[in-house]
Amino acid sequence: MGKDVIVACDFPSKAQVMDFLDKFKERKPFVKIGMELFYAEGPDIVREIKARGHKIFLDLKLHDIPNTVKSSMRVLSRLDVDMCNLHAAGTVSMMKAALEGLTREDGTRPILIAVTQLTSTDQAAMESDLLIREPIANVVMHYASRAKEAGLDGVVCSPLEAEKVHSVCGDGFLTVTPGVRFADGDRGDQKRVMTPAEAKKIGSDYIVVGRPITSAEDPVSAYNRCVCEFID
Ligand code: C5P
Repeated sequence: MGKDVIVACDFPSKAQVMDFLDKFKERKPFVKIGMELFYAEGPDIVREIKARGHKIFLDLKLHDIPNTVKSSMRVLSRLDVDMCNLHAAGTVSMMKAALEGLTREDGTRPILIAVTQLTSTDQAAMESDLLIREPIANVVMHYASRAKEAGLDGVVCSPLEAEKVHSVCGDGFLTVTPGVRFADGDRGDQKRVMTPAEAKKIGSDYIVVGRPITSAEDPVSAYNRCVCEFID
């Protein structure tokens, strides 16, 4: 599984995402489709972007009873996405059921990664709302280990956690890291950020980059800069 730059296509409509993707004439980026676009346009948006030659990370963060997640994953697998995800909080049995649903008759399946604690959840919210009293870093590592035990391929995490995840779960366990910004760029609402070059250095496997590319004056150059810093 190679390193790659995944472009978070957080657009509200098909017209906008297609306009954006039309700019990429040479290298076709790995595309992340989130809930907003998927719920607005339905599964055809995945088929159409795939048909243009892009790999797809479908970021729907499933979390339900194991049987429901298993049957939903079967549907996503038939959609031929390349990567999808779920919440590790759904338990090991839910994660195992997801893998079963995702595995096609020929034994192939999309990459499956787990969300540990959302970066929007801080220590105070975890304690008061979820009644989890461990330090958040321990919770993230615990969820990552449980995801590995269930057979998943990796986790979504902050680039600042990627090294620790690899040391706990092994180098082959994938770290998919948002929160990436250029050294000279705007941070937006992301608080804990790294440049693509730093993310490469600490061993991220995939970086997820949205606004530094989608809001750039020249998105193709911004994407190429990410590829250059992170892969080449
Ligand atoms: O525009 P930006 O580069 O901040 O986009 C990052 C993408 O990664 C968004 O789609 C965001 O929802 C997603 N993400 C994140 N932090 C997480 C998990 C996902 O920024 N912890």
